[in-house]
Amino acid sequence: MMSQTGKFIVIEGLEGAGKSSAITLVNDLIQQHTGQAPVCTREPGGTPLAEKMRDLVKIADDTDPLCDEAECLLIYAARSQLIANVIKPALAKGQWVLGDRHNLSSLAYQGGGRGLMPLVKAVSEACLAGFTPDLTLYLDIEPRLGLTRAANRGDLDRIEQQAIDFFQRARQTYLQLASQDDSIVVIDASQTMEKVHQDIRRQLQQRLPLLCNRG
Ligand code: TMP
Repeated sequence: MMSQTGKFIVIEGLEGAGKSSAITLVNDLIQQHTGQAPVCTREPGGTPLAEKMRDLVKIADDTDPLCDEAECLLIYAARSQLIANVIKPALAKGQWVLGDRHNLSSLAYQGGGRGLMPLVKAVSEACLAGFTPDLTLYLDIEPRLGLTRAANRGDLDRIEQQAIDFFQRARQTYLQLASQDDSIVVIDASQTMEKVHQDIRRQLQQRLPLLCNRG
């Protein structure tokens, strides 16, 4: 049941929301539905050059701190590489793409968290020109709970070390944008993993056939 062009499905959420296990589940569900494994991407990153940009964004250099505008532009440089060299070619071949984060992260973290929404919107429009996922699952979690989970996993990176109100603003932006866009589904990620996965399964069982029918 492959459609002619592939579909782009994205998993979003704050640190500790459970993106990794959700991605494994969604990968399996796409495979069951289409008969083929999706192309998996992560952002920032996903191409050799974009992965170098990811390192620049994630690793703190106290002698030359990354300013917020440079962080934003690096993330869009990485995204442009990924879209041009991986995502669009895969979709054109009829392959499905499963993204670990995409543009909604920038709207939430750089736009909401950093307060750079005008820059984010301008760069997003210039670089993406309306390119958008077919479906986004946003795993919603209260930042304190998510960060506690993330901290239990190991060291926090440069962005994960932001103050809690940065993540509160990012969460509010995620929720606000989700409330205005039918292609973004909010999943309550504070539930047990079993219940989160049940909700994801239910959403995809409804939505994957509709996406396929859209051709
Ligand atoms: P992760 O892939 O482990 O979640 O790490 C990516 C980090 O980069 C995470 O802290 C969120 C951040 N990020 C942004 O700030 N803006 C973006 O647009 C993206 C894709 C990620």
